[in-house]
Amino acid sequence: MSKTKTKYVCQACGAVSPKWLGKCIECGAWNTFVEEIEVKNEKTQSLNIGGDSKPQKIKDVAFDKEERYSTKMNELDIVLGGGLVKGSLILVGGDPGIGKSTLLLQVASNLSAQGRLVLYVSGEESVKQTKLRAQRLSVDSDSLYIVSENNMERIKFHVEQLKPEVLIVDSIQTVYNTEVVSAPGSVSQVREATNQFMNIAKKYGVCTFLVGHVTKQGAIAGPKILEHMVDTVLYFEGEGHNLFRILRAVKNRFGSTNEIGVFEMTGTGLKEVDNPSKIFLSGSQINMPGSIVVPALEGTRTVLVEMQCLVSHTNYNIPKRMAIGIDYNKLVLLTAVLEKKVGMSLYEQDIYLNIVGGVSIDEPSADLAIVMAIASSHRDVVVPNDMIIFGEVGLTGEIRPVNQVQQRINEAAKMGFKKAIIPHDNLEGLVRPAEFTVIGLKHIEEMLKYFL
Ligand code: TYD
Ligand code: MG
Repeated sequence: MSKTKTKYVCQACGAVSPKWLGKCIECGAWNTFVEEIEVKNEKTQSLNIGGDSKPQKIKDVAFDKEERYSTKMNELDIVLGGGLVKGSLILVGGDPGIGKSTLLLQVASNLSAQGRLVLYVSGEESVKQTKLRAQRLSVDSDSLYIVSENNMERIKFHVEQLKPEVLIVDSIQTVYNTEVVSAPGSVSQVREATNQFMNIAKKYGVCTFLVGHVTKQGAIAGPKILEHMVDTVLYFEGEGHNLFRILRAVKNRFGSTNEIGVFEMTGTGLKEVDNPSKIFLSGSQINMPGSIVVPALEGTRTVLVEMQCLVSHTNYNIPKRMAIGIDYNKLVLLTAVLEKKVGMSLYEQDIYLNIVGGVSIDEPSADLAIVMAIASSHRDVVVPNDMIIFGEVGLTGEIRPVNQVQQRINEAAKMGFKKAIIPHDNLEGLVRPAEFTVIGLKHIEEMLKYFL
């Protein structure tokens, strides 16, 4: 009797080991190794020398523009880079309950309303449950098909029979392949299923959406493995208590990444938010020390977000620094600049910095606002609520120019702001909107003098 060979696979990164390990040597995760039976691939691949592939000059390659479908959801189209590309494979990740199924059912409805054949494969909910949800979303179409199935072969069979233009699989973790021995949801199963969906997408030109659950650590189960296999990776994010949801492209072969789409969860499904700036500005807009509005770039558009800072006397030996939505090291660095370059004593102060609305900013243009937010809270001075501040701050306290200045100013003017403090080097060629004052500064000391 032949002995079956087993191997151990890390469920976080896919690393393989002949023995069980407590800690993965590849990704450092603990307790992630699961035993799987090794299946020998009988078909040895022979290299087909002189086969179909043939080098050709790049300038001679025939180029036809990829076909794109509009999802009739402008926010989603933006994130996809201008619509859904025919034959693309898209992974949609997010926490349970964030609204992935709702979003995709709405997308399915919009696409089928344009006469496209859509197949929704639900491995998590029964057909009746999905129908209930569809009723709530008033989804009603002749060309939207639904099936409750999690066997890969059968799903493939349905695709071949129905020949849909769009396929939605909710979720990839429930799909299993009888040839793979490990349990559904394991790395081997998920990887194999994704591979097969990739083949289906390319072979039949079906746009395929895969829903992927996010693990506790915040990555899609079997994370990196899936991300490089698919064309596009979208993350659906949001705070549990907050009804706003952000859809973010972290990888996109057909468009730019960093694009975001903003949605609101309502009783009748997800509604698009056309003007994200409105929701990130915390509402009442009262003049308060420590609160500053920054125009941040999210992909190709500008979103105004509010930054809040609280500086208070510390009760500890080492003062506390906390940053939400901003890199912690950035806060520490800019605090040091303030101490050294303008002599503000912050070593006995706790500093808390927060970006309202759950967004995060990782571009240097927020530096100047961080500096001013700390100073404003520390000295109890108010930055007028019709003013925006942005610019990069160097280690000597100099204010350095940033990009897309006109776009940021225009967005602020559109939202009713009247003043802006910007880097001096960015003044050249700037078109000032009507009744809008722009102040260009060279050093943070100048800025503090302006306010304090
Ligand atoms: P769901 O799409 O099932 O999340 P996921 O597929 O990401 O797990 O959405 C779950 C939540 O959304 C659920 O708590 C109920 C809420 N919801 C609404 O608020 N309005 C609606 O119209 C629908 C369909 C769901
Ligand atoms: Mg779901």
